[in-house]
Amino acid sequence: MRKSLTSVLAVGALMVWAGAAQASTAVYPSPELAQIVKTGKYMGPDSCLECHEDEHKAWHASRHTVKATKGPAFGKEFEKNIYDWVRRDWDKLDTYMIVDTKDAKTNYMAARKVPMAEIDYVVGQVYKQRYMKYYDGGPLEVYEATTADGGISWKIDKSKTFQFAGNKDRAGYNFLYLEMNPKDGQFNKNNYGEWRSWQERCIACHVTGFDRTAWDQAKADFKAGKRGDLRELFVADLRVSCESCHGPGEAHVKQKSKKNNILNPAKITDVEARKMVCEQCHTRAQVSTHSSLAQDLRGYRPMDKYEDFAVYTRPAWGKGNRQVSIDGKGRRDHQQDMDMRLSTTIQGPHSTHAAMACFDCHDQHGVGGPGRKNATLKAATPRESCVKCHGAQSDAVLKVMNGRTGWEPSSFGKWGTGYGRQGNKQHIFNIEQHGRSFGINVDQYQWALKKGGDAKKEADWEAIWPWEKERFDKQGRMTAVGATPWQ
Ligand code: HEC
Ligand code: HEC
Ligand code: HEC
Ligand code: HEC
Ligand code: HEC
Ligand code: HEC
Repeated sequence: MRKSLTSVLAVGALMVWAGAAQASTAVYPSPELAQIVKTGKYMGPDSCLECHEDEHKAWHASRHTVKATKGPAFGKEFEKNIYDWVRRDWDKLDTYMIVDTKDAKTNYMAARKVPMAEIDYVVGQVYKQRYMKYYDGGPLEVYEATTADGGISWKIDKSKTFQFAGNKDRAGYNFLYLEMNPKDGQFNKNNYGEWRSWQERCIACHVTGFDRTAWDQAKADFKAGKRGDLRELFVADLRVSCESCHGPGEAHVKQKSKKNNILNPAKITDVEARKMVCEQCHTRAQVSTHSSLAQDLRGYRPMDKYEDFAVYTRPAWGKGNRQVSIDGKGRRDHQQDMDMRLSTTIQGPHSTHAAMACFDCHDQHGVGGPGRKNATLKAATPRESCVKCHGAQSDAVLKVMNGRTGWEPSSFGKWGTGYGRQGNKQHIFNIEQHGRSFGINVDQYQWALKKGGDAKKEADWEAIWPWEKERFDKQGRMTAVGATPWQ
């Protein structure tokens, strides 16, 4: 199969990449433009409307704008942001707010149902919805909720209440115990256990221009009694808007000349930076390098480097975990970036797939909007996204987008399989001998020894992604390749 693929590939791949590189060798962005991206001010999407009506229209109806929305606490007109059926059934649901964590298996829950009118923000519209309410960090009567499966599912014990002394570290928009689906009567029966606030944990991936320095200062001031509350969001826009991908627009909007003062992601010549335009949010980070409580790339602007902002979710070679299968396939949402990065190890350093950005196949402006032939792609069908390079092999290669076919299912306590993501969501562009979507072989597993660790002890070796080796080498950690470096 590889032979016939390669012959079809040569012509098509060249055509596409000539387009992507703009047939030019000059470095883009220029130092002047890079400086604008790094230090410029955000203007908001309304400032682009008069000159870029088409882009604005496509973007405005896209999924990037429905992400986080206001709730009824800001006015009755925002009630409609909550799914119809959830509004109807609100009083019957377990609308308790998560307050804090007691230990890894126990959360504190406010022992009072939150009325719908008190919901400050709603996150999600397409697949699922979660709700937030402001918590001031003060004392409360609480229940306990516990998990027996590492946080996948949670149960409230309403038979006892406790007095919680309060914790100013938890102040912010906190989540309710509910995770609801758009379909009438359908919700995630596992419930929800995130005890950190929206600002502390996730905000940067769902908005534009979260100012982490301002937030950190506000939190410090609040804890020191110099600030009344933590209701402010410190964002340039509540949605994922133009400037998330194009960088701040002040210079472009204000200067007369419209040339070379705003970023066009398609022209970026550094492969890594070009990919990161989308991957700054379409990734699953283990932890932010700017806050041990955060899982987003807070403060990221286009052209910044991933490793200055976050650490990737951890692989578990040969063992698997909730996020990653034994061979490195991503198992949860927004992990396509890591799937694609593995291509460098699978196919070698010149892999075409490893160098592609999400927007080489997906639509950047209208994603998920109405009237589209395909909800998220530039092409009308998945097949058309492959055909220019894979020709008649397209239907065959498209099978890799289902990471579950042919693999034994995984579940809590049984992560050690090659089972990946369902449907069309796997993005490891590699087929193994049985026609299944597959990551890397045992002889390609990579490891780093813990500082001061014993190279003979399995527990002292941390599984790392192949592209992280350089970073660990720089830190002076011993690295190794292979199935069992401890032997
Ligand atoms: C007053 C009109 C005006 C406004 C306001 C404006 N633009 Fe532009 N924009 C232009 C023109 C004209 C060009 C084409 C410049 C050229 O000749 O290359 C352009 C080009 C661009 C490009 C392509 C740049 C390139 O190098 O390929 C992007 C991206 C862009 N604008 C984004 C934005 C965003 C985002 C905003 C809002 C923050 C915005 N524009 C506001 C007029 C405007
Ligand atoms: C690293 C970036 C990132 C972080 C951190 C993050 N998200 Fe997301 N989230 C995304 C992306 C990207 C999607 C789109 C899912 C996909 O890949 O299909 C998404 C999807 C969602 C959805 C479903 C949206 C819909 O319309 O159905 C909800 C709800 C959500 N996230 C809530 C949260 C909450 C709550 C947190 C924090 C506890 C969080 N996210 C943290 C990037 C992130
Ligand atoms: C999710 C990221 C993202 C968002 C949000 C976004 N853009 Fe873009 N935009 C891109 C990318 C990527 C390209 C280049 C795509 C390509 O040419 O393949 C682009 C291209 C453009 C261009 C150049 C079009 C051309 O003809 O080459 C303009 C102008 C533009 N965007 C304006 C806007 C405006 C205005 C908004 C907000 C209303 C916006 N964009 C929102 C990612 C985004
Ligand atoms: C600032 C963060 C951010 C950036 C930058 C970003 N996205 Fe997203 N994207 C999201 C979030 C959050 C969602 C979930 C929206 C929802 O479903 O409510 C999403 C949804 C999507 C979806 C739909 C996923 C699904 O399962 O429905 C696609 C496709 C997508 N984005 C492509 C892109 C592309 C292409 C780029 C770069 C040009 C990009 N995104 C840049 C945050 C971002
Ligand atoms: C080589 C082309 C290609 C590239 C590059 C690519 N994708 Fe995809 N992606 C696809 C195809 C094809 C589908 C299937 C779409 C369908 O079935 O309608 C898909 C589906 C998805 C879906 C599921 C959408 C849905 O409607 O269920 C998400 C989310 C997604 N891709 C995110 C990404 C992200 C994030 C990146 C960049 C890290 C990326 N993709 C890069 C081709 C690509
Ligand atoms: C820009 C050209 C291009 C596009 C578009 C493209 N591919 Fe590829 N594909 C390649 C190249 C080149 C290779 C060889 C490995 C590499 O360079 O990464 C490859 C390899 C593969 C392989 C591995 C084949 C094997 O036998 O090991 C699969 C599977 C695959 N692509 C699937 C897809 C799918 C699915 C799509 C469409 C969603 C797609 N490709 C779109 C260029 C492309």
